[in-house]
Amino acid sequence: MNNVLTIDGTSGVGKGTVARMMAQKLGWHLLDSGAIYRAFALAVDARGVDIADEYILVEIAQTLDLTFKSKINSELVNVFLDGRNISKILRTEYTGEMASKIASIGVVRSALLKRQQNFAQAPGLVADGRDMGTVVFPKAPFKVFLTANSEERAQRRLKQLQAQGTKGIISQILADVMARDERDFSRKNSPLKPDKDAFIIDTTKLSIDEVVAQVSDLIKI
Ligand code: C5P
Repeated sequence: MNNVLTIDGTSGVGKGTVARMMAQKLGWHLLDSGAIYRAFALAVDARGVDIADEYILVEIAQTLDLTFKSKINSELVNVFLDGRNISKILRTEYTGEMASKIASIGVVRSALLKRQQNFAQAPGLVADGRDMGTVVFPKAPFKVFLTANSEERAQRRLKQLQAQGTKGIISQILADVMARDERDFSRKNSPLKPDKDAFIIDTTKLSIDEVVAQVSDLIKI
């Protein structure tokens, strides 16, 4: 399956929105790989296992009962873990923080690799994450890497939380964004970095529609 568009970048940069809009525009499937790491972290947390026990982590990753269901005529994708709708808790900062910690463990990344690659189905896939272009779909013909300064990303995250009816404190969100960046960029396994073939877009001063227009220009199909 050759039609793969990878969208990687820092947290809070708007990858999820751009990926969803591109998938709708192209009529392709969507992989939100962050949601897989988040759901995995929730499963590990719920079982109360020691994250130093790699054997158990791999077992949980391999047996993770995870399904994504899109609602017709809705932007929302519902995520179910062991049959339970976890969509709300999945998006919290707490879950993101746990996911970021657990995502730095090499055996976890390897155990979740195939599950992500299986999303590549006809007619095409838009994959959003940190290592979509470098590790999960290295042969993808279309690769994008999105950046924006940390203050702008913290503001975007705050708006997102407010839209979900959750309160947030900007200084705290900024600190979280910077801590997450530090961990994602510096980890040994699949660090966040643009693939050599990726088209880099600094979105700090761009609207979502402008970013989508630039990404669309890249895909001439
Ligand atoms: O993108 P999102 O904020 O949902 O991802 C949550 C965390 O999962 C990130 O901070 C990152 O550490 C991790 N992640 C990852 N590789 C991916 C997607 C997410 O390491 N492909």
